[in-house]
Amino acid sequence: MPIRSFSEKTLTGEVLRRVRRAPDPRLRQVMASFVRHLHGFVREVRPSQEEWMRGIRFLTETGQWCDDRRQEFILLSDTLGASMLVDFINYGGGGTATESTVLGPFYVEGAPELPMGASIVKPGTPGAPCEVSGTIRDARGRFVAGALIDVWQAQGDGLYDVQKPDGANARACFRTGADGRYRFRCVKPVSYPVPHDGPVGRMLHATGRHPMRPGHLHFRIAAPGCETLVTHLFVKGDRYLDSDAVFGVKRSLIVEFRRNRAGGYAARYDFVLKLAKRRTPRQKR
Ligand code: BEZ
Ligand code: FE
Repeated sequence: MPIRSFSEKTLTGEVLRRVRRAPDPRLRQVMASFVRHLHGFVREVRPSQEEWMRGIRFLTETGQWCDDRRQEFILLSDTLGASMLVDFINYGGGGTATESTVLGPFYVEGAPELPMGASIVKPGTPGAPCEVSGTIRDARGRFVAGALIDVWQAQGDGLYDVQKPDGANARACFRTGADGRYRFRCVKPVSYPVPHDGPVGRMLHATGRHPMRPGHLHFRIAAPGCETLVTHLFVKGDRYLDSDAVFGVKRSLIVEFRRNRAGGYAARYDFVLKLAKRRTPRQKR
């Protein structure tokens, strides 16, 4: 058989023919699409060898910045809008249910479970005192008992506990009773920058973007019979609501944090969880 050689025109077709031999149909589909878009990108941009190497160095450094406290690839996905696109595809169109948004890199599994009404911040934590309360219902309007509400936030200095040396703080779990109500104390969320001392920060700077996120509280709410909801509550009036570095703001999640008589703030939000998708008999294991 004669040895074939390829040209700029014919190379993509050959790569596609080879990846289409993958036995797994989903992998076949994903790889074929990836190759088409990658080759399309190279054809459109026509990088020099030096530019291509700079791109490879950027991705290499992104990986080198990752460890068990820092996930630079998630940050890259977040700041390029890819995380929110995946979120829209997988959780979109909820009808009356509360909208979701990015998980972000600061969620820590296994936060301490506290009694309803407790404070998630240790004494001396920077920030203005704040109380948040409301209800958890399902999409049929029933109060949800036994919902596990995970809450976490940046402190008043704009840093999460995992970015500081003082141990766990400003995160906790609460479990709803039969009334489906929740209530906890925290500090009023402030706007803060996503980590921008690494490759992603350089990308933001080079493209003329700021690294700020509007003040928010993170929630992950899991309950029997319901889909797990990952979302935020954003502070109404925050100057970065319209330019969140990770594109996570949804209008329905913006909440007024009102001044209360004790000199702190109070916010109220009623969450609605989607009902869990029923498995078809073929999906049952
Ligand atoms: C955050 O809100 O914690 C966050 C989300 C995405 C990227 C960086 C930080
Ligand atoms: Fe956050």
